[in-house]
Amino acid sequence: MITIIGSGKVGGDAALFSALKQLDDQILLLDVVEGLPQGEAMDISHALAELGTDVEVRGSNDYADMKGSDIVVVVAGSGRKPGMTRMDLLKINSSIVKSVIGEVKRHAPDSMLIPVTNPLDPMAYVAYKVSGFDRNRVFGMGGMLDMSRFKQFIHEATGHSRDSIRALVIGEHGENMLPLTRFSSVSGVPLHDILQKEELGRLITDTRQVAAKVIELKGATVHAPGNAVSSIIESVVRDKKQVLPVSTPLEGEYGHSGITMGVPAVIGRGGVEKIIELDLNDEERSALAKSAESVKNAIASIEA
Ligand code: 2OP
Repeated sequence: MITIIGSGKVGGDAALFSALKQLDDQILLLDVVEGLPQGEAMDISHALAELGTDVEVRGSNDYADMKGSDIVVVVAGSGRKPGMTRMDLLKINSSIVKSVIGEVKRHAPDSMLIPVTNPLDPMAYVAYKVSGFDRNRVFGMGGMLDMSRFKQFIHEATGHSRDSIRALVIGEHGENMLPLTRFSSVSGVPLHDILQKEELGRLITDTRQVAAKVIELKGATVHAPGNAVSSIIESVVRDKKQVLPVSTPLEGEYGHSGITMGVPAVIGRGGVEKIIELDLNDEERSALAKSAESVKNAIASIEA
């Protein structure tokens, strides 16, 4: 069973994409707001009925219903409003995530945890600490979403099929994220051989800023995060062993520890099966250190 805690727009879309991809035959939407997860589950089920897809989507306000879940996605918390940074959400959401993770620990102690609540990296750290789960079972969704945006910008800049684009974004899911142009390609042709330096710089800036733009235009980001969650789940349940950027606890990788931050990892049935350490150059290494510093400060402010 896949459980999604938080049945707002992103939680609802994560359930929809997961159901459409048939990632499990049971998906549970949980929320403290009465009626919301039930209504969302009904709406999704009506779409599935027409498609002939036999995935049971249920809604509940009772955390005990997540018992037996293999995967728990945590989207619960306040969303990012126009003009807000992800860090503005820190205080509000850390207490929500702490209490939700306490419930996961109680009712689904053997699950894999996918935190999604912002600010993502500090919240993934809270999830890791409060759950007491081994670190391979905690991997937050942030870099996947940044990567999908980076891919779209590469597609727009090169005109090549999205299907041919390989890209990577690591670091903090926030202002200091690091779209890695040097590790991105179009079917193996390095991006640096296709685009000029200024264009590459623009891709990085656009990838960092586009979420704020979407929020300004439509109030929230919904479909891209919902899909990104389902892509991570898919790699776990189908044991695909895809290399995906996830926010997972670091113990010395890239020279950082005591934080959770986006790094490329092999994702399979065992959760984070391996963290891939790229041979970063000095510039990339120092940009990643900036990301790490930002996450470290956020964690320290929650712990204070
Ligand atoms: C996003 O990047 C708001 O963090 C959220 O879409």
